[in-house]
Amino acid sequence: MTADCRIVGRDEAGLLDRVADDVFDDEINAHSLAAFLGDPRHVLAVAVDEGTVVGMAMGVECFHPDKAPQLFINEVAVALTHRRRGVGRRLVETLLEAAKARGCSCAWVGTETDNAAANALYRSVPGAAPAQAFVLYEWKFLGRLRTPRSSRHDSESGRSLSYLFLAAFTR
Ligand SMILES: CC(C)(COP(=O)(O)OP(=O)(O)OC[C@H]1O[C@@H](n2cnc3c(N)ncnc32)[C@H](O)[C@@H]1OP(=O)(O)O)[C@@H](O)C(=O)NCCC(=O)NCCS
Repeated sequence: MTADCRIVGRDEAGLLDRVADDVFDDEINAHSLAAFLGDPRHVLAVAVDEGTVVGMAMGVECFHPDKAPQLFINEVAVALTHRRRGVGRRLVETLLEAAKARGCSCAWVGTETDNAAANALYRSVPGAAPAQAFVLYEWKFLGRLRTPRSSRHDSESGRSLSYLFLAAFTR
């Protein structure tokens, strides 16, 4: 069982017609997907096995008035059927390559300190700086809070996360 990892192009929404369980939180919404793919600052990498998306990693290129853009990786997930086969790492590496090609100075990602799989994944990606801890605060406007995919803890006012800068690119 192998999976090809690639960036989803602007006109490739059809790639997400078939998605395995455990990859996204909710069903794919055509309008949301079109908005995502139509925005040049958003990047989505998928792992595809026999026409089904079995993993994804997504990020957004953050611009700053005073420094080069950085890629914030905001979600990574692999279907249960395809975990521990290197798919997560290849997805992250695919995003990092895209970030480099866009001229980002670095990429970064946060995860809960007790998410063993995610911490192991990010540590395994060459170039990751040592993890640092920080506390997350959220403000809810619509729907649910950004409850961690992995642990689904009850929302608290602050959660302990770790984050890593992945591959601090030299420009
Ligand atoms: C985190 C996740 C994406 C990892 O995907 P994956 O495809 O199984 O990871 P990989 O096979 O690429 O593994 C990468 C490294 O992490 C290690 N790893 C993966 N899962 C692990 C686990 N549960 N425990 C310990 N190590 C683990 C692998 O052994 C590998 O390290 P190695 O090269 O030193 O052997 C997957 O577990 C997942 O979808 N979890 C639920 C969603 C989630 O928590 N996402 C992260 C949100 S920040």
